[in-house]
Amino acid sequence: MKKERIILTGDRPTGKLHIGHYVGSLRRRVELQDSGLYDRIFVFEADGQALTDNIDNPSKVRANVIEVALDYLAAGLDPEKTTLFIQSQIPELCELTFYFMDLVSVARLQRNPTVKTEIGMRGFGESIPVGFFTYPISQAADIAAFRATHVPAGEDQEPMIEQCREIVRRFNFIYGETLTEPEIMLPDNSACMRLPGTDGKAKMSKSLCNCIWLADSADEVERKVKSMYTDPGHLRVSDPGKVEGNTVFTYLDAFCRPEHFGRYLPDYASLDELKAHYRRGGLGDMKVKKFLAAVLQEVLEPIRSRRAEWEKDIPSVVEILRKGCEEARQVAASTMDDVRRAMKINYFDGTSLIDERIAAGKEE
Ligand code: TRP
Repeated sequence: MKKERIILTGDRPTGKLHIGHYVGSLRRRVELQDSGLYDRIFVFEADGQALTDNIDNPSKVRANVIEVALDYLAAGLDPEKTTLFIQSQIPELCELTFYFMDLVSVARLQRNPTVKTEIGMRGFGESIPVGFFTYPISQAADIAAFRATHVPAGEDQEPMIEQCREIVRRFNFIYGETLTEPEIMLPDNSACMRLPGTDGKAKMSKSLCNCIWLADSADEVERKVKSMYTDPGHLRVSDPGKVEGNTVFTYLDAFCRPEHFGRYLPDYASLDELKAHYRRGGLGDMKVKKFLAAVLQEVLEPIRSRRAEWEKDIPSVVEILRKGCEEARQVAASTMDDVRRAMKINYFDGTSLIDERIAAGKEE
């Protein structure tokens, strides 16, 4: 039998999604979905994982489950092709996590660099929640329960996937070939790895107010682009400017395609030409920003209008998630049947437990 190609990936629903998520992951997911190269695609909201450091703020996670679903649908994920579901609704994931916990040592978890950094960032001090500390194990269960072969994710998730591979290998070594080792699919373009905030800071973050949201109106996008960080040394139009570290150009690297020049800036043939002029001097920030705004509007307009359509029909969005959870649950349940059989805890399958005991009794 040909091995199926199965994609699984997801996000913590702790906030709406922004254009950094779009270039970093959403755009790619839609391409993968439409490529026809995969047998199944699962995209899920890791609400249980979001709760590991938001346990006192369940309303935030609850509200964002809908926002993120709207962003998924707006970006072009199609529930006919991609199963959209919510982690907490699949109890099989807890069950698999429970057994996976026995296959990982505390020391190994402590070495996970992503967990280390995240613990530092959150300032837990001596009070690290056990659930947070062990979330890589639950993430391994997310992946293994769906027999995912490919996990599209950012570089920061590499240690998670590696840990999952180790757990799966150990499981298969002890109990026989049962689960599938996944591989990470890193973003293919360096500009897509991480988009800085509009203020030039390394990351878009809600608290820094430096995000362009997928849900932003055309006016908001216009306003945010106009106030973007550029090259602080580029004071007069005639001054030579820097392109590296200039957020406007970083965004152009991520969003601009050759055909945008014909439509919005026909004096230039390519981004390289535009950059060369900026470096030489004589090209004003406003002109580049106007171009970026036009490019962003073109990319974001279809997303914005799809979002507006879905917002008018929230019951259908909820229904998509409900159906997705049902489908996902069947898949996870079937994996768990195999897991229980492999681990010999399938006591009530047929009469084998009885037969084995009778046979053992006869040997005595
Ligand atoms: N840890 C991921 C993040 O913070 C979310 C996530 C949870 C995930 N389970 C996953 C991603 C399984 C890929 C596969 O973005």
